[in-house]
Amino acid sequence: MEKLIVHGGTTLKGSVTISGSKNSSLPILAATLLTKDVCTIRRVPDLSDTNYMTLILAELGAEVERASGVVVVEAKNIKSTAPYELVRKMRASICVLGPLTGRLREAKVSLPGGCVIGDRPVDLHLKGLEGLSAVVTVDGGDIMVDAKAGLKGAVINLMGKHGSTVLGTDNVMMAAVLAEGTTVIEGAAAEPEVEDLANFLIKMGAKIEGAGTSRIVIEGVKELHGAEHTVIPDRIEAGTFLCAGAMMSSGLTLKRVAPEHMKAVLQTLEGCGFPMEIGKDTITIHPNPNAKGFDLTTQVYPGFPTDMQAQFCALACAINDTSTITETIFPQRFMHVAEMKRMGANIDLQGATARIRGVEKLKGAPVMASDLRASAALALAAIKAEGKTDILRLYHIDRGYEHLDDKLSELGADVQRVKE
Ligand code: EPZ
Repeated sequence: MEKLIVHGGTTLKGSVTISGSKNSSLPILAATLLTKDVCTIRRVPDLSDTNYMTLILAELGAEVERASGVVVVEAKNIKSTAPYELVRKMRASICVLGPLTGRLREAKVSLPGGCVIGDRPVDLHLKGLEGLSAVVTVDGGDIMVDAKAGLKGAVINLMGKHGSTVLGTDNVMMAAVLAEGTTVIEGAAAEPEVEDLANFLIKMGAKIEGAGTSRIVIEGVKELHGAEHTVIPDRIEAGTFLCAGAMMSSGLTLKRVAPEHMKAVLQTLEGCGFPMEIGKDTITIHPNPNAKGFDLTTQVYPGFPTDMQAQFCALACAINDTSTITETIFPQRFMHVAEMKRMGANIDLQGATARIRGVEKLKGAPVMASDLRASAALALAAIKAEGKTDILRLYHIDRGYEHLDDKLSELGADVQRVKE
């Protein structure tokens, strides 16, 4: 295991190029299973989650080649069972369920485990596939899908008690593209990553309208052909660096970003009074010693993203005001609070609402990474803090950020990756 040693108090400056989106890459890599032709996916970030996905594709029988950010997949002859020992390591592997069902009319994928941000049910995924006339059973920790009798288009509502489901929408869409007839997904997730997946499927010959809205209409086709695609920029990595720039920089520029995917985050930062210059694919942010606090509630897209919640917790610690954060998507997603309090943060957590009072100084301390976004938030707090911080279990950061420590040190942070 590795840890990150951070000596805080440095001021970041310069520019950072944002990687391709992890949460776009994973379903798009899974979608290559839908054709026997060759697919080329560009700007796939080099991190453990995408590496796991390429391993799963290979285990399923696909030929997979990866050269820096380009992944080439040829899923000519594939089997329908995803390997437990790989699936259990990454719950997003559930997104092979839809393409396997669409291509082979059967699938066997182990139930994904939960994780620290909370229970991660897949009931809506299964409801959606049943809506397409598949027979779904769960036994011995495995999900079995049987659609040998055919996949038939239908009107399916995927809205759950916490709103829409991103990977659930992806799975149903990837099965419906090869179903007979028309499918309407109501209560669909509208995230940019869902739209990016749909754009890739359309390049493969799928007939999809409405992706990026809560109502997606899919006209099933007989088969799909190969395609090439470049994934969209990672809006969560970009948001993470914007927090870094607001907390401790003399001006920080992000390159290769899509500001149009980040409206809720940008509005919140503007509301605090952080000056920003927003270009077509660049954003420059400056600190503001008189920044105001914020009150935010996480929502499904286009609302404030839950994946940015922990990072804004860290930012609130550095604002000389009071801020509140309410988490509605994963109400337990506050593992970072106890760790930040070890660094002297003033956070009062009541249920799913954190009330944060900015402090004069955070103090370095050994802290434990938990989920990937919480870990990135701890890195931000550590750079802001006075003294030394050891962030243990660095693999959490490596799951979702491409070379985060290298990018931070290039901006002037004093960070060092060492064996624990
Ligand atoms: C995606 O996860 C992202 N992961 C998550 O990012 C992100 O936090 C989440 O969407 C919400 O935006 C990827 O895209 C790989 P959901 P997903 O299904 O699709 C409930 C990160 O940090 N729900 O949209 O698994 C669920 O419990 C990761 O990069 C059901 O009730 O999340 C949650 O409360 C973490 N039944 C809410 O819906 C279901 O069948 C949203 O979950 C499915 C979900």
